[in-house]
Amino acid sequence: MKEKRDFLRFFDSEDYEKEVPESDEQKKIPPPPFERPYPEDASLIDLVSPEDFKIGKTPFLKLINSRKSRRKYTEESLTLEELSFLLWCTQGLRRALKSGRGVLRTVPSSGAKSPFETYLVINRVEGLEPGLYRYISFSHKLLFIKPIEDAEKTIGELSYNQNFVGKAPVIFYWTAVPYRTEWRYTVLSHKFIAIDLGLICQNLYMACEAINLGTVAIGYYEQNKVDKLFELDAKDEFVVLLAPVGKYPQEKKLTEFFENPKAKAKLEDLKKLVGLYAKDDSKLEFIIKEDQLYAKMGDYMEPFVPYNEAEFAGEYIKGARFILSSKGVVEKVIILTSGDDLVEFLPQKKE
Ligand SMILES: Cc1cc2nc3c(=O)[nH]c(=O)nc-3n(C[C@H](O)[C@H](O)[C@H](O)COP(=O)(O)O)c2cc1C
Repeated sequence: MKEKRDFLRFFDSEDYEKEVPESDEQKKIPPPPFERPYPEDASLIDLVSPEDFKIGKTPFLKLINSRKSRRKYTEESLTLEELSFLLWCTQGLRRALKSGRGVLRTVPSSGAKSPFETYLVINRVEGLEPGLYRYISFSHKLLFIKPIEDAEKTIGELSYNQNFVGKAPVIFYWTAVPYRTEWRYTVLSHKFIAIDLGLICQNLYMACEAINLGTVAIGYYEQNKVDKLFELDAKDEFVVLLAPVGKYPQEKKLTEFFENPKAKAKLEDLKKLVGLYAKDDSKLEFIIKEDQLYAKMGDYMEPFVPYNEAEFAGEYIKGARFILSSKGVVEKVIILTSGDDLVEFLPQKKE
């Protein structure tokens, strides 16, 4: 694992020549294209032009203060203007360099090489057929690639079963085309590419926040299976990150979830709650450590802050309410998830 850290490091100037080979640029090999070519007869779909955007005027500090990962989306479709805005903010093309050696975009990129393509799985955008698309930034248009069968389920499965991903109206997928950067930066490229990618993704977060949409970066996905679905060669171009986007529902306030008045929870109250609980295949255990109640799910464990003897706030689990019998035995636990869903867990016997 530790040798992989070297990927993040740079070189001292005296080592540079030893470590960094001659580049294709230095060998006078012409630069690669900065957009993946597409069939000449392809019919491209118009997007809303940046000069015509009426959205996205939210003050900057408000965006900074409200940004967070959002994983729950409503059934609402995105408008074509919203999608155009997000594409422009993440990979909009200002101009190609006159030298032909790079492109200037709304996001920075090492050496202006922009080693990415943007693919979209569209489930619900007004006026567009669902399916797989690619952003053609040179003309700010969309290229339809193909329909995706049962997209909601397929995309959820291909995201390590993070099913909320497939439910979003649009899922952004960025592919890397490493040679665009390698052409100049050879072995230095891969750190730069990773940084460039983060900048794009952060622009997506901020652009979403500016127009009341939610997103989350998704680093867990089935690499080979997604590359195959997108018909990528997986060597010169492959998926590197994705991000579902959608309108998000109003968040539930914790005070609405809590039903009992605020009170101090004593250690003897907490002890009654200790045990193993289950909902289908999901198991949840409550334990006490250093006089504090903890929720444990597999390897993950988080402390719970008491609101009263039977109601608690967490982070991953936003809230937990223990329903006690008249004898003070737990009958069930109602969980308020980070996505504002209510899930009931029943007590289990410990194996
Ligand atoms: C590169 C990267 C990969 C991520 N992968 C996932 C993921 O697969 N699933 C997920 O739910 N969140 C994922 N996240 C979101 C983080 O969990 C989230 O940013 C973090 O918990 C901080 O929360 P915040 O974004 O709300 O501030 C990822 C974030 C980044 C930057």
